[in-house]
Amino acid sequence: MEIESILVVSRQPEIQHLARQFSQRLFAADDLNDLSDLLNRSEPEVILLGSDMSIAQIAVMMSILQNKHLNPPVIVIGDASCESRAADYLSLGITDYMDRSEGPLQLEAILLRTQETCVSEPRDLDFFTEDCPSAISIVGRSPAITKTLKMIRLVAGSACNPVLIIGETGTGKELAARAVHVLRHGNNQKFVAINCAALTANLLESELFGHVKGSFTGADREKTGLLELASEGTIFLDEISEMPLDLQAKLLRVIQEKTFRKVGGVQDIECSATIVATSNRNLIQEVRQGKFRQDLYYRLAVCPITITPLRAESRREDILLLAQYFIQQSAICPQKKGKIKGLTKLAAEMLLKHPWPGNVRELRNVIERAILLESGERIGTHNLFFEPEHFDIEEMVIQDCQPSPLRDFSLEKAEKELVRRALEEAGWQKTRAASLLGITRATLYAKVKQYNLEQPGEKVHQTI
Ligand SMILES: Nc1ncnc2c1ncn2[C@@H]1O[C@H](COP(=O)(O)OP(=O)(O)OP(=O)(O)O)[C@@H](O)[C@H]1O
Ligand SMILES: [Mg+2]
Repeated sequence: MEIESILVVSRQPEIQHLARQFSQRLFAADDLNDLSDLLNRSEPEVILLGSDMSIAQIAVMMSILQNKHLNPPVIVIGDASCESRAADYLSLGITDYMDRSEGPLQLEAILLRTQETCVSEPRDLDFFTEDCPSAISIVGRSPAITKTLKMIRLVAGSACNPVLIIGETGTGKELAARAVHVLRHGNNQKFVAINCAALTANLLESELFGHVKGSFTGADREKTGLLELASEGTIFLDEISEMPLDLQAKLLRVIQEKTFRKVGGVQDIECSATIVATSNRNLIQEVRQGKFRQDLYYRLAVCPITITPLRAESRREDILLLAQYFIQQSAICPQKKGKIKGLTKLAAEMLLKHPWPGNVRELRNVIERAILLESGERIGTHNLFFEPEHFDIEEMVIQDCQPSPLRDFSLEKAEKELVRRALEEAGWQKTRAASLLGITRATLYAKVKQYNLEQPGEKVHQTI
């Protein structure tokens, strides 16, 4: 294992000797006076402390690191007495400690764990591809989102009207619609949205086209429709598949003629807005089932913009990027802003495995929920709660009332499970896991041995 650079803070030559086995770039500080100067010259990947550093000195060193916004793993190489200082080390933010006599293999195991517990944090610019114009914030660098962004640019730069955006729920169709609007019209024109599924047929018609006074019972004033209000901007028709068939025919006329009439009106009104429609249904299937007009479908689908669901292999790499973006951007818990740095390795793996039926919206919800619950620096698996795909409350109640054959009241099993979960949460750092469980490191070692618990992949590593 090769570490880019290690800083040793100690007068003990054995520690430098140990460090040299892992890195060619070694910096050594005898005391705190040297430290500040060395930190200015090097950005160590790891810091090793000798047991000749007192708790007070370590506290000063940690605050120096904090002031310099440096966050490398800090490992104490001490002796058997380290055990008694574990609580202090933990409260100071020390990553782990070991007895020097445990040798290089133990240090290597700790170094491997420190590298595994956190997922590196992308810098601001890393969230977006070069294809993503600065005016829009569509996170993602996967091949699928890159293709979508290219299409958005192409369509926005053309005179294509109407524009159709297709994608499963929560994939970012409205975001894409706003992107087309901003790229085509800038921020000076209006973006007027209407959800075709949210209104009755009559209301939808009068909202879209407006109506003249007295055109139906209750029409006591003339009303300007959204098509007219959008003016030179964008009219956003969300969930167009839900539009009633007769209204679809009227919309087709607007698209073809570029004019429309208010309900009950006789005057043609010009429509110069960009019409952007979305659908999370398969419109071809809707056409086959007679629920969507074929002629309207072909008018809409000239250059469709499609957004790939998160579970697709071609979008997988966006999952952690989006998660990290939401961690940074979320305003759900202002007092935690900037304090939560990212995800533990296991939490990241869990996010990658989830099928995301609710796509990016679901991911944002999972992260925001986790931010509320998390008290540490990194979101762990215990705070990730996914939305049930089919939420059937009755079934859940029935299940809950029936005695489960799987229930196991064995104390030993419960303890084994608890120890395993604490280790996973701590990224298999025993100091942290012991602290989570409220037991000493020695007791933890005993439990690990008793229950034969081992980190996935650990055996493989030791035989290398
Ligand atoms: N690539 C992305 N980058 C950043 N945020 C995203 C991205 N995709 C979606 N989002 C966010 O996810 C949420 C859902 O997006 P949006 O409302 O655009 O989805 P939708 O496809 O219109 O969903 P629905 O079909 O349910 O209406 C929004 O908060 C949006 O900002
Ligand atoms: Mg939407």
